[in-house]
Amino acid sequence: MKTRHLIDLDDLSLDELDRILDLAKVIMEHPPYYLDSCHGRLMATLFYEPSTRTQMSFQSAILKLGGQIIGFDNPSNSSVSKGESLKDTVRVVSNYADLVVIRHPREGTAKAASLFSRSPVINAGDGGHFHPTQTLTDLFTLLNTKGRLDHLTIGLCGDLKNGRTVHSLVKTLIRYPGNRFVLISTPQLSLPPYMKALLSKAGCDYIESASLQEAIGEVDVLYMTRIQQERFASAEEYQKQKGAFVLNMEILKKARYGLKILHPLPRVDEIDYAVDDDPRAVYFEQTEYGMFARMALILHMLDGSKKQLDPRPESNAGRCCENPRCITRTESYLPRLFKKTADGLCCEYCDAKQSGSLRTGGTGTDSSRVDI
Ligand code: NCD
Repeated sequence: MKTRHLIDLDDLSLDELDRILDLAKVIMEHPPYYLDSCHGRLMATLFYEPSTRTQMSFQSAILKLGGQIIGFDNPSNSSVSKGESLKDTVRVVSNYADLVVIRHPREGTAKAASLFSRSPVINAGDGGHFHPTQTLTDLFTLLNTKGRLDHLTIGLCGDLKNGRTVHSLVKTLIRYPGNRFVLISTPQLSLPPYMKALLSKAGCDYIESASLQEAIGEVDVLYMTRIQQERFASAEEYQKQKGAFVLNMEILKKARYGLKILHPLPRVDEIDYAVDDDPRAVYFEQTEYGMFARMALILHMLDGSKKQLDPRPESNAGRCCENPRCITRTESYLPRLFKKTADGLCCEYCDAKQSGSLRTGGTGTDSSRVDI
């Protein structure tokens, strides 16, 4: 059996997702039962990018399950600063640890790491691409505060272009029936085309709005996000978007009584501090729900897993991904992998659409050549 990795929540069936969320609830209600469930297990956290919540909630999760933790939160304190490749770091760390949790500024890194890891890899955020464990946190928060994951109108506000938490959340919520989306952003920060294509393909109703004030009354859930300063090409570009949306008590007057306000945090200036005391704000509770969700995920990933290095796919194309932020642009040994999707030809690591046309046959998903 191949090693299971969590690059994206699509790696889990809906049934598995439900089982993880059910387990999170049991753990939350009976933490002492799980105190020793990871005794003797070691988790590594490789954080190439800053983190407070994701890293600490993973640490809390494994420690509360009786396991232990190794890793770095600053690659300059590791051999990465001497020029070690992602491949070598992951290959070595997965010899020690039973689980490898990785965060990296480049898109597609978790997928790349999974090709060289002997233990399951969990994506803790790869550039502006995906952040599946934040989504697990968000789902568990919605279950506990709204009571369901379906038939919701979800407003997503802020940096929908670069916000990886938004991408993973949308991709997952379209798997549940009856969800609608209100995409609140400036035109420059709107949801990437490949994400909109997914919404259309799933038959999901969505509208776009440039006004939080006008949209807030429509939604059951408001998912606020930070403008992702570190993903902008220049400081000037960021300055043009900074402060585009700020949720304050005045705007909140127009919201529904049962609204729930989520935010993956950190907050910069997009939610006024006065909102924190409104019962509709659940973003601090969300952090605790995230820890229980990660405890359940760790148990799920470790269940039956054994160390093995799976055969690597061979390159199925002749050139590199066009996305300058893709991991394949810096780690040149990675096999070049492309897949055909409804949106055209996409990189298998970062999902970026490629402009190159197909020259020869093959599906791209079964390792046959797509030659672009
Ligand atoms: C998010 C992230 O890192 O993508 N934070 C988190 O993991 N809780 C959101 C953000 O940084 O804006």
